[in-house]
This record gives sequence, C-alpha cells and structure tokens, in this order.
Amino acid sequence: MKHKIVVTGGLGFIGSHVVVELQNEGFEVVIIDDLSNSSIEVLKGITSITGIQPLFEKLDLRDKPSVIDFFKRHHDVMGVIHFAASKAVGESVNLPLLYYENNLNTLIYILQELQKKETSNFIFSSSCTVYGQADTLPITESAPIKEAESPYGNTKQIGEEIIRDTCKVSENLKAIALRYFNPIGAHESAKIGELPIGTPQNLVPFITQTGIGKREQLSVFGADYPTKDGTCIRDYIHVVDLAKAHVAALNRLIKGDNTGNYEVFNIGTGQGSSVLEVISQFEEVSGQKLNYKIVERRAGDVIAAYADTSKANKVLGWKAKLNLKDALSSAWKWEQNLN
Ligand code: WQD
Repeated sequence: MKHKIVVTGGLGFIGSHVVVELQNEGFEVVIIDDLSNSSIEVLKGITSITGIQPLFEKLDLRDKPSVIDFFKRHHDVMGVIHFAASKAVGESVNLPLLYYENNLNTLIYILQELQKKETSNFIFSSSCTVYGQADTLPITESAPIKEAESPYGNTKQIGEEIIRDTCKVSENLKAIALRYFNPIGAHESAKIGELPIGTPQNLVPFITQTGIGKREQLSVFGADYPTKDGTCIRDYIHVVDLAKAHVAALNRLIKGDNTGNYEVFNIGTGQGSSVLEVISQFEEVSGQKLNYKIVERRAGDVIAAYADTSKANKVLGWKAKLNLKDALSSAWKWEQNLN
C-alpha cells in the first residue's frame, strides 16, 4: 500500500526535487502549490523524470476553509512535507505582514488539521538562518538561536516554536525540522532545477545566469571579511542530497524511530566554501572565465556558516554524497538546458 504524502510548495526548487525522491521511494504524492513563485511546467519535469504524474492541487493555504476541505478529501494522508512559504530575505524586510501571514498562518492551519488525525508525520523546511552568525563553527543543532536578521528568518524561528509547542501537547503528531544550509544545483536530468523569478538573489543562479550571458556581471558582495580570501563562507549542499534527507526524515517518523515527537537536524555537507572558491570551481566546471567584480558588503550577510552534520549522519542515517563540483556542474547543465 503506497503511503500518501502531501508536499506543499511541491513545484518549487527544493519541493520538486523532494517529490522526485518520494516517488522513487514508492510514495504517492499530492502537491499543493499556489503557483505564486513556481511554474506548472515543473509538474511535467517531475513526471518526465519518474514516469508518475503526482496529484496536484492549486491552493492558497492562507484560506483556512480550503485547507480544512483539502484534508477532509485527503483523509488518508500519512504525512506532510511543508515547503510553501515566501522566502526572499530582502523582500521580507519591506513586507513583514505578508511574510508573517503567508509563512505562519498556513503552518497553523495545516497543523490544526494534522492534530485531528489519529497519527501524522510532519517535516518542516527550516533554515540555518535561525543561527545568525554562530559563535562556533561548524554549527551544531544546539547552537544558540540568534535574533533574526529579517522577518523571513523570524518566520522560520517562530515556525519551529509553533511546531515544538504543538507536538508537546499532541501525542499523535510527530515532527522533524530540517535546517538547510545553502541548497544549490539541479537534478542530473536537467529537467528540474532552480527557477528564480526576476534577478536572482542567491549566488549560484546569478553565477550560472552570468555564465550563460543572461547577466552582464556578478557582483561579489564584499571581499574584506575575516576569512581565508576575504569573501563569505557558506555550506553549499546539492539539492538532491537535501531531498534525500527529507525521505530519511519521513521514514524515521513513519517507522517510529524518532526519540521525542519533535526533532531538529542540520542538513549540509559540513564543508565551508568561500564565494571566490565557488566562482573558481564554476570556471573549472564551465571551462570559461566568469565576469565578476568586488563591491561593498550586502547588509545582513553572516561571515561564515557551515554545518556540523554528525547528528544527521548518526541519528538520521543520512550523509551528503555530492560535492561542490557535482552541484555546480548540475546547476550549469540546468542553466544551459533552460536556454
Ligand atoms: C551566499 C553568498 C553573498 C549573491 C540565503 C538565505 C537563506 C537561505 C539560503 C532560504 C553570500 C554572496 C550572493 C550575489 C554575492 N534561503 N553573494 N553575490 O544569503 O547565504 O542564504 O539563501 O532559506 O535563508 O539567506 O545565500 O546565495 O544569497 O549568498 O556575492 O549576487 O554569496 O554575499 O556571501 P545566503 P546567497
């Protein structure tokens, strides 16, 4: 019997890669997406990879009656993996209420429906952004949660607290929050990948768009940081490795292997790479020089962040297998396939 899993935001960058891995594992997937930051074409990409078209419902999860109706119709749902959220750090500073409504009301409505079920499993898309600039590197799950630098980051912190407090009083609800480091890359088929709308905010899509000629030049936001080459350090994880971590987390809950009904895991490679190292690796992978210039720092950037992944490795039984070169090669192949 196939377990039915709901993936909210399942047509997004990370969500679509998780849907592929869930289908590969034999789960039946229902995607909910409002298409505000994704394209229906992604459904074709998923189907062409796995040969199975996931069920899809276009829903605005801010509409509580729609959420209630959905879970009434899909009463056999075994678990929910929740990606649907607004995620642009800069935009969240200008539109805080849009972020608090879209990222938190939707979470609350879904949890209210899961609370009604005999048993349910919930995986939450969280972020290393909750750590801010950690005092100690690599970052473990017990690192202190710092004051959020943006409403977006705050919605991840508050979201985790909402889930934690709900799980405390709902024996039937089990949850895992995955704190992602920096997801990059694309499925090896180049049929799904990152589809930033407008000017990419993140480093790797800006690099690949510069490489393909869609962007004139990459601006490197600061080269005067106290790091090996002056540029910021991040833990870039291949999106397929990240997707597999979600399946591992879901299986952990379904099998009842969890200790306590709310757990948190850092999902990264454990390796830190500087912006200049990413650029140089991209030049090697693409066989071409990248046009970039050093400009002033970007507000809100932390100097360095990379994961201590021992808890995910030992407890979750998951470890990243792909490296920066693999991820940049897949990102570059995806960009070339798009154009
Ligand atoms: C990485 C590095 C930039 C663009 C963000 C969110 C985080 C998570 C992942 C959602 C930094 C530098 C970037 C550019 C640059 N998203 N950079 N030129 O900021 O680490 O994390 O995405 O959960 O919440 O904050 O990722 O890719 O934006 O930046 O020099 O054009 O690349 O300064 O050092 P970030 P990023």
